[in-house]
Amino acid sequence: MEESTDLQIQERKIRHLVILPLPFQGHINPMLQLATILHSKGFSITVIHTHSNSPNPSNFPNFNFEPIPDGLSDHQLWTEDPLTLVSILNDTCQAPFHDRLSRLLSDSRHGPVRCIITDELFHFTKAVADQLKLPRILLGTSSATCYATMSSLDFLQQNGLLSITDGQPDTLIPEIPPLRIKDIPDFSTTDPDTFERLGANALNAMMSALGYIMNTFDGLESTALKKVREDRYPIPLIAMGPLYKFSQGTSNSLLTQDYSCMAWLDKKAPQSVIYISFGSLASIDKTDLVEIAWGLVNSDQPFLWVVRPGSIRGHDWVKLPEGFEEKTRERGQIVKWSSQQEVLAHPSVGGFWTHNGWNSTLESICEGVPMLCSPYLWDQKVNARYVSHVWRVGIQLENGFERGEIEWAIRRLMVGTERDEMRERVGALKENAMCCIEKGGSSYESLESLIDLIMSF
Ligand code: UDX
Repeated sequence: MEESTDLQIQERKIRHLVILPLPFQGHINPMLQLATILHSKGFSITVIHTHSNSPNPSNFPNFNFEPIPDGLSDHQLWTEDPLTLVSILNDTCQAPFHDRLSRLLSDSRHGPVRCIITDELFHFTKAVADQLKLPRILLGTSSATCYATMSSLDFLQQNGLLSITDGQPDTLIPEIPPLRIKDIPDFSTTDPDTFERLGANALNAMMSALGYIMNTFDGLESTALKKVREDRYPIPLIAMGPLYKFSQGTSNSLLTQDYSCMAWLDKKAPQSVIYISFGSLASIDKTDLVEIAWGLVNSDQPFLWVVRPGSIRGHDWVKLPEGFEEKTRERGQIVKWSSQQEVLAHPSVGGFWTHNGWNSTLESICEGVPMLCSPYLWDQKVNARYVSHVWRVGIQLENGFERGEIEWAIRRLMVGTERDEMRERVGALKENAMCCIEKGGSSYESLESLIDLIMSF
């Protein structure tokens, strides 16, 4: 690594940013990717982070890391649903964040803080920024389509314009095609008031932010971005994704990534392997696991399957059905956690069976890999519907996990003309993504405007 000159160090000091990620993998990744990009543009970075799910500082030797207590026990981390955890963190982190930031501001080793960049769900940061008179920019980690859908639904409901108020899950909602009732984002929690409170606080905190960054690009979500821009006006909306492509080579993984599967992939034929992963939070039942296993056996396709510890409800680890290993020894590999972006970029990977978390969806599109969609909840249902019916780069499993349907869907995804058509379309979106981050592209221009915005504070 090149040593910075004294001048560069002084310059970075006057371009000092404080970053506060939400401590979940799907939120830490885009935030640290953003920080890496801004560091490459001459900013110095302090990451204030919770003790729980803390990022590994050795992966970012140029950043300053400052931990804060969050009051969460390991038991809570494993048992509470994520939105309840976010709600708790908003209560427990405010005072420690204020203290840590105040100390940072009076520490002459660091330059003055130009602004705070926080996850949009950390609404407590508004109060802290107001008290310390610091500008605040937010990062949203879901798709623009999800935000646009939620705000359209709110508007339609409040004005009595929604033609369907109840109906079967498969009923299309004419006002927001091609979404059906069952595609509406699901933010259910164990405490029904939690989401309402969180949403109201987040919206209130958002309206005073000085910028709103989104991990998406014009070449994919221009219509939804236009809607979000109108809704959030006058807050500048900065769509500068895909962030992971801008910040190549950054690893933010909370779990140890198993690289042994890369050598295994090397031995497989081009585009022959289906990669399966349902992200960092989704969980399935033991019966689902058995159906997935037999679906994979019967599909006859090579597969790389991530079975994350803790992802089978009520079990630390589950034995796979008898006969599974013997039947798939030659063509299957199971790992606990992978280096997903590299796996998707591997030439042997021809399909991705995903829960459609926004990071996974973007990564699949940007590596040109068609998807089999099994959304779990939140924004994933909207993402899955757009993948299958708007961008048409995937197919959705509609009835949960059933071995016959799985076998049929995997074959559709991995062989035949439909797969070729999906590959062609996803290839075009991949090209759009690369154009957007090149000099002159929309995401590149957004980055320049973000830098101008920060330097104007
Ligand atoms: C969550 C939500 O699901 C998502 O919809 C929201 O927008 C962000 O937070 P998560 O469920 O973990 O995140 O899914 P996703 O957004 O896809 O993020 C998972 C990340 O973990 C991806 O960046 C992926 O590359 C990484 N990953 C996944 C690995 O590094 N290894 C793996 O084996 C699996």
